[in-house]
Amino acid sequence: MDFSVTAVLFFILSCCLWDSEARKHDAELTVPNGGKWGTWGNIVLCPEGYATGFALKVQPYQGALVWNDDTSLNSIRLHCSNGSAVESKAGPWGTWTDVVKCPRGSLVSFSLQVVANQGLGDDTAANNIQFTCEDGSVVMGKSHDWGTFGPWSKRCPVGFICGLQTKVEEKRGSGDETALNDVKFFCCN
Ligand SMILES: *[C@@H]1O[C@H](CO)[C@@H](O)[C@H](O)[C@H]1NC(C)=O
Repeated sequence: MDFSVTAVLFFILSCCLWDSEARKHDAELTVPNGGKWGTWGNIVLCPEGYATGFALKVQPYQGALVWNDDTSLNSIRLHCSNGSAVESKAGPWGTWTDVVKCPRGSLVSFSLQVVANQGLGDDTAANNIQFTCEDGSVVMGKSHDWGTFGPWSKRCPVGFICGLQTKVEEKRGSGDETALNDVKFFCCN
């Protein structure tokens, strides 16, 4: 076999074997009201099955003094139907809430609660999240009720939510920190 044929065969094999390992996702669900700060973490997917619940990493209220700086929501974990949990980029503050689960089935769409840009005031960006489940019920995150919920994302056109990617502002150590700003979810068939 000459070199080019070998190379092509190797390429085809490596591509397709690799492909069968990595899970594919279909639609991406977004909302228009995410915060403007931060950078996107990795896309992470449930190793199998779908997301049937979620938990939030939330910094408690820091108090009313002007130098106190709230970041509120720092990370989101999806709890997968096989009992594992997946998380993308996270901020350093806060503790995990209880897991909130769909009464039946999996998550299919979401809406994000965000405080509008505060200018010189204390920005926290995204604070809480709610999802709809495949049976139409709504499940609400256990975070601060600050800001307003934006419009719902579209629903997974096929399948259910199976992964996420979070956008988080890096810790700067001083000034007004915001932690989690925006999130995208992914559907698997
Ligand atoms: C979920 O599935 C993955 C991949 O098959 C496996 O590695 C993991 O151990 C499973 N988690 C649980 C809690 O069963």
